[in-house]
Amino acid sequence: MRIFWRPFGFLRRLFKVESCSVTKSESLIPLAWTSLKHSKAPDIFLLDQRKRFSTMPEIERDQRDSELFSPPSDVRGMTTLDRTAFNKTVTIPTLKVRKEIVNKLMRSLKRAALQRPGIKRVIEDPEDEESRLIMLDPYKIFTNDSFEEAELSILKQLNVSPQISKYNLELTYENFKSEEILRAVLPEGQDVTSGFSRVGHIAHLNLRDHQLPFKHLIGQVMIDKNPGITLAVNKINNIDNTYRNFQMEVLYGEENMMTKVRENNYTYEFDFSKVYWNPRLSTEHSRITELLKPGDVLFDVFAGVGPFAIPAAKKNCTVFANDLNPESYKWLLHNCKLNKVDNKVKVFNLDGKDFLQGPVREELMQQLGPLSKERKHSVHIVMNLPAKAIEFLSVFKSLLDGQPRGSELLPIVHCYSFSKDANPAKDVQQQVEAVLGISLDPCSSVHLVRNVAPNKEMLCITFRIPASILYKNQALDLENQEDPPPFKRQRTDKAFSEEKTTIA
Ligand SMILES: C[S@@+](CC[C@H](N)C(=O)[O-])C[C@H]1O[C@@H](n2cnc3c(N)ncnc32)[C@H](O)[C@@H]1O
Repeated sequence: MRIFWRPFGFLRRLFKVESCSVTKSESLIPLAWTSLKHSKAPDIFLLDQRKRFSTMPEIERDQRDSELFSPPSDVRGMTTLDRTAFNKTVTIPTLKVRKEIVNKLMRSLKRAALQRPGIKRVIEDPEDEESRLIMLDPYKIFTNDSFEEAELSILKQLNVSPQISKYNLELTYENFKSEEILRAVLPEGQDVTSGFSRVGHIAHLNLRDHQLPFKHLIGQVMIDKNPGITLAVNKINNIDNTYRNFQMEVLYGEENMMTKVRENNYTYEFDFSKVYWNPRLSTEHSRITELLKPGDVLFDVFAGVGPFAIPAAKKNCTVFANDLNPESYKWLLHNCKLNKVDNKVKVFNLDGKDFLQGPVREELMQQLGPLSKERKHSVHIVMNLPAKAIEFLSVFKSLLDGQPRGSELLPIVHCYSFSKDANPAKDVQQQVEAVLGISLDPCSSVHLVRNVAPNKEMLCITFRIPASILYKNQALDLENQEDPPPFKRQRTDKAFSEEKTTIA
């Protein structure tokens, strides 16, 4: 919820057979399907009976399939998890065969065999150890007449009787995936939460109002169904506080907010309740890191716990990383040590404006000063505080006024912003231009980072700060010196998300 909630990587198995039992084999012509838990035959069976063993169209099949293999209907409305209430017995047709021909036969019975992830297709026959039972698809095989010609022919060839028997397969809570459990429990027709942000051992959910009565159950199911998750928390406010950390409530599990995550091969430790961390930014962190070359200088104005700073330092860049949150600062220092880059990162605990006017300005005076004529490396300034970063750009106006300028390679800014505009790239560029009082055309590029909410995008605008901004009162002299082309712009506003930014 990849929130744009990470689509639950639920490619794992659907069903696992925990316990199975075989009832006395009996002929099934016509087969009276029953669900042992429910006295009333489910509608799907009535449908089957009406259709008298004909093959169902796919769409109907999917619907019936989900009924047969979904949790019992009486779990609906459950707020305290009772795992035993998920026990359910479904009747599956089986074919008894000699064990030595099972493999050969299975190749020819692909269509007819039961295909449910986690459910064994061949099981032992409790009545005969020389035989095996092949589980068949209850929607395809109703009687021995349901086999196709080719199937009947191979059965005949291998001397197997096409007579089918029924087998009672017991499904338990373990056999259902979390989405199926929650769909069965939550009010019918309402959205089911099927995803979360994973931050180390913590599942971070963002529940909607109608899900709140079930919040503890939801947390418990998330923990049960996701190995390694031991704590489920729910976001209880929008992330609008200064330090961008979430207010959260524990849904289930042991309250331990100290966590450890791996991102792009680096390790970060922090207290998730006190700092900002978003697993959905890993691609963006590596995109920026890839733009950097060894020897470049990186100023990270809103550094958090270090996901830009640490990879950049590992790439042999000189890094100045800053965060106003004392907890972020603490964990940033810790993570620099943890990743063995503490000698390459200077860490600050300042307001972004003071950082830019202090340590950044001082370093820029060196980097761009008279002794820097031959400087080949680039200077990058990352500003990831999307709700506000653009406001901080005004600090660049006249930042180096009166300072001698030796290098033509001016700093490159990567500034993040949100936009709800129909043309978000244009909107962000215009916002930056309004703060700087200049036109950036054609010297900037905008990258779509992610969709944050319906109609709300997070973007990154990249541009080289014009000399006329940094050295405002030297504009006359310096404007005659042409700024190097900052980017080869390859985007159209429409296709901005696919652009590649090339830094000159
Ligand atoms: C959106 S987070 C980004 C953190 C990190 N760069 C990342 O990508 O995960 C913004 C960070 O800016 C910090 N912050 C907020 N206001 C700030 C300010 N005025 N000056 C410096 N840092 C600030 C917050 O504490 C938070 O860690």
